[in-house]
Amino acid sequence: MTTRIVAIGGTVNPGSTTEQALRLAAASAATGGADLQVFGGAYLAALPHYGSEAHAKGNGSELVEAVRQADGVLIAAPGYHGTISGLVKNALDFLEDLSKDERPYLDGRAVGLIATAYGDQATMSTLFAMRSIVHALRGWPTPMGATIRTYRGLFSPDGECLEDRARMQLELVGQQVARGARAFALAAAEPGA
Ligand SMILES: Cc1cc2nc3c(=O)[nH]c(=O)nc-3n(C[C@H](O)[C@H](O)[C@H](O)COP(=O)(O)O)c2cc1C
Repeated sequence: MTTRIVAIGGTVNPGSTTEQALRLAAASAATGGADLQVFGGAYLAALPHYGSEAHAKGNGSELVEAVRQADGVLIAAPGYHGTISGLVKNALDFLEDLSKDERPYLDGRAVGLIATAYGDQATMSTLFAMRSIVHALRGWPTPMGATIRTYRGLFSPDGECLEDRARMQLELVGQQVARGARAFALAAAEPGA
């Protein structure tokens, strides 16, 4: 049985700390051999607005299809003015295309959340906003959500996290997504499921 994990997030900045945090948690989630797909800042920046003509032409369908198949999802967003950035929210709006599925939106998926910001207040308010979104989409947020204060030097140039507090949170969120994803995949494989 293969579990499938999809990681979504980042910013338009090259070397985005949000995306680095996402990739660290995703690597932790995939340690046991899960199938992993990452949609980082560059992909999100190329998405049209949800509901636009470009969306109607099929842009964003890879993201929708990946989440459709997923057992676990990781989402990382920066706090912009105290809440989730428009870039990441627009990507999540595409999950509306799963509304008519047998498993709609984020139903039956473990969802790990990562909020980054300069200050504690925005990391927390952004995490809470993300949890509300996941609940609205019928997803199952993991018990641990990561709140990461960002600054120059949090990650080394090769992507290593240099702060124990941040690294431990990200690894734990990844592990919890892997655990939840395995449980959902097993349940789906049961006869009569
Ligand atoms: C438009 C904008 C608004 C922001 N608002 C906040 C904020 O309200 N509180 C805060 O602590 N940081 C704020 N920040 C800092 C971002 O959270 C920070 O740039 C982000 O965590 C780093 O992301 P990146 O390295 O992935 O680009 C803001 C940044 C931008 C660009």
